[in-house]
Amino acid sequence: MVTANDETVRPATVRPADDDPDGRPPLVDDDRPPLVDDDRPPPVYLDAASAAPLHPAARQALQAALDDGWADPDKLYGVSRRSRQLLEAACAVIAEAIGCRTEEVTFTPGGADANRRGLLGLLRGRRRFGDALVHSSIEHSSVLHTAAAHVAAGGRAVSVPVDRLGRLDLGAFRDAVTAGGVAAAAVMSANHEVGTLQPLDEVAALCAEAGVPLLVDAAQSVGRVPVPAGWSVLTASARKWGGPAGVGVLAVRAGVRYDAPDPVPPVPVPLAVAAAAALRAAVAAAAAEAGRRVPRVDRIRTTVAATVPDVEVVGDPVHRLPNLVTFSCLYVDGEALLHALDRRGFAVSSGSSCTSSTLDPSHVLVAMGVLSHGNVRVSLHRETKQADVDRFLAELPGIVAALRAQAGVTDL
Ligand SMILES: Cc1ncc(COP(=O)(O)O)c(C=O)c1O
Repeated sequence: MVTANDETVRPATVRPADDDPDGRPPLVDDDRPPLVDDDRPPPVYLDAASAAPLHPAARQALQAALDDGWADPDKLYGVSRRSRQLLEAACAVIAEAIGCRTEEVTFTPGGADANRRGLLGLLRGRRRFGDALVHSSIEHSSVLHTAAAHVAAGGRAVSVPVDRLGRLDLGAFRDAVTAGGVAAAAVMSANHEVGTLQPLDEVAALCAEAGVPLLVDAAQSVGRVPVPAGWSVLTASARKWGGPAGVGVLAVRAGVRYDAPDPVPPVPVPLAVAAAAALRAAVAAAAAEAGRRVPRVDRIRTTVAATVPDVEVVGDPVHRLPNLVTFSCLYVDGEALLHALDRRGFAVSSGSSCTSSTLDPSHVLVAMGVLSHGNVRVSLHRETKQADVDRFLAELPGIVAALRAQAGVTDL
């Protein structure tokens, strides 16, 4: 995990809570100073693919539902029925957005949890038909970890390759799902590191032909681009569309052979309501937002390629998410680049998985066969301004050049 450097973080000051008899500080202090010094440019957050800023509609719904939906929705008294009504209304909003029935939707404690749960449910429900899980090689780690655990428990997993743009090899996928003994397939709608959209209509048709249920991890698409209908199980994550963290979606179509691995821990009703409010707002604005973001991402793609020597912009230039762009810089350490950008006020992510001291090469970039060093993922959200993008593009070449110079790489 990348943390802000010590020099950029001021210690939080705490003030006594106004109404605490012992003068203890409030847990959340509105007067806390900003993380970045005032003489620095305002921070620019460009990591919506991890979590988008909370949508105002979510904040408003959350506040209302904290007052109205605090009771346990599973009890038999009046306030509980009110919570249940709110929860069902939230499920109905999600169902409408993803194209299914309200009763097919369950909230989970996050997108990763929904993936694990959804896959295990399919594998268990279909164990009489086979033990193989077919998945793309660039699925989210939560899918890959579930596949690895399935193999460790004696099952089989088949990883299907992608091309240099990150698009699934449909021929190899057809061979894998028709091989016999396949319990389930998992193909994401759009990749979280490079933004490439998968040919889901074709994938779903191949699964239908083979009689194999398809789990679609739609975490990066829901609220941004429509998701094709041919899924059996769909998963999503509210914090990607401007809902609160800790809310995932698991939708299982009626009639799918599905054996739930364990009971889903309840998601607090106010969080579910806030997630639904944010999704409704995101879907209503999706076309207009895409109209704003696509040209900005195009500009990042072309400007980075033109202004930074030895750079590779990765991912499908056409079939892609409207808000995400990834590039890799040769001769640059990825972690150093993220820190340098952070010091200049840019919060971006790396496709490479981030641990405390190292950036492992990303399994996605490795599977695509593209450059994985010095990798940066920029993902825009509804609050991203043109000026933010302009400043990022203006500062990036100098930051990369300075890091290369420190490493002794010049004359590029
Ligand atoms: C494609 C994809 N699937 C699943 C997840 C996991 O979602 P969550 O962070 O809600 O657990 C993510 C999060 O980055 C993602 O990008």
